[in-house]
Amino acid sequence: MKSLDLQWQRAQLEPELSTAMEAVLGRGDFINGLETRQFESAFAGYTGTKSCIACGNGTDSLELILEALGIGNGDEVIVPAMTFAATSEAVLRVGAIPVLVDVDRAVVLDLQAAVLALTPRTRAVIAVHLYGYPVDVELLRQLLEAAGRSDVVIIEDAAQGHGASRRGRMVGSLGLAASFSFYPGKNLGAFGDAGAVTTSDEVMSEKIRRLANHGRLGKFDHEIAGRNSRMDTLQAAVLLVKLARLDAWVARRREIAASYRAAWSGYGWLELPEVPLDGLHAWHQFAVLVPDRDALAAHLHDAGIPTGVHYPQSLPQLPFHSSWPLADFPRAVSVAAHELSLPIGEHLSDDEVSRVIDAVGSFQV
Ligand SMILES: Cc1ncc(COP(=O)(O)O)c(C=O)c1O
Repeated sequence: MKSLDLQWQRAQLEPELSTAMEAVLGRGDFINGLETRQFESAFAGYTGTKSCIACGNGTDSLELILEALGIGNGDEVIVPAMTFAATSEAVLRVGAIPVLVDVDRAVVLDLQAAVLALTPRTRAVIAVHLYGYPVDVELLRQLLEAAGRSDVVIIEDAAQGHGASRRGRMVGSLGLAASFSFYPGKNLGAFGDAGAVTTSDEVMSEKIRRLANHGRLGKFDHEIAGRNSRMDTLQAAVLLVKLARLDAWVARRREIAASYRAAWSGYGWLELPEVPLDGLHAWHQFAVLVPDRDALAAHLHDAGIPTGVHYPQSLPQLPFHSSWPLADFPRAVSVAAHELSLPIGEHLSDDEVSRVIDAVGSFQV
């Protein structure tokens, strides 16, 4: 059994995949080419936004959003204490200050705590849809409004959220702008690095497009000092083929998650992942919390079942955030110590799902 099976995906995608890649090789427009444009338009449609700007990866996309907002020296950006390092790295890279806030039961930003962390210097909040759980961005917006802080921008880090929705709206369309990663292991993954920003704000969209391509829209209209963060056309060709499968693949993840939840709901020692009542989880990870995760991981390993940890350290436990007292982040620190990611993915057969269910069931606590 594999936790991610790119060869399985390849087999499902042929012959379209080879044809699509061959077309790019034949034309030779390797960067920001035809399929990049087509993917941008398809992904904007998928997320229900007016525009999608393809870029190099899901860290650049966060940085590009922050840069486009003019967020930099001395500005504060609220970031959940449990996420991949890239979320706060992007804030640091633009010269701003990540203000860490603990996560809630669903292991996403604690929205009430986020409001308490606002200061006059707060410019933005990054809502990370961790594990594919869609953050209630609308509630965050209402809380910010109630606090008199409608000026604070909501950015989605949707690197793990492809295919999730909340209150009937797709992740990617919930804040002012959203950042996506298409790292190969994501729900929608390229065959290399790739990322994108989605937004319905036309000013943001143009600014990000310029920033990501040396400050220009055309060939030589370098209006601002930008950078190079573009999507390879080959990656876009892969993503276009995969995007057509995304809903079916996420639906399979939901099926597997429902089987796991039904099978394990009575296990007092196992904290199952939260499910939003008014939203659809994308199940990028099926993350459980267990008192002794190493023991469960070893037991599953012996049964031929791979597991992972996302993540062994919360942000305040990383050296570059060491000034934050750990006592302020009890949930994030506890998740870091007890989280175990169990196999989930479109490639898993019913038989493999049953094997996971039985193996967890036979664990002696
Ligand atoms: C929550 C989160 N944010 C940002 C990123 C960064 O994406 P990339 O690896 O494409 O730069 C990732 C990727 O793992 C992620 O999981």
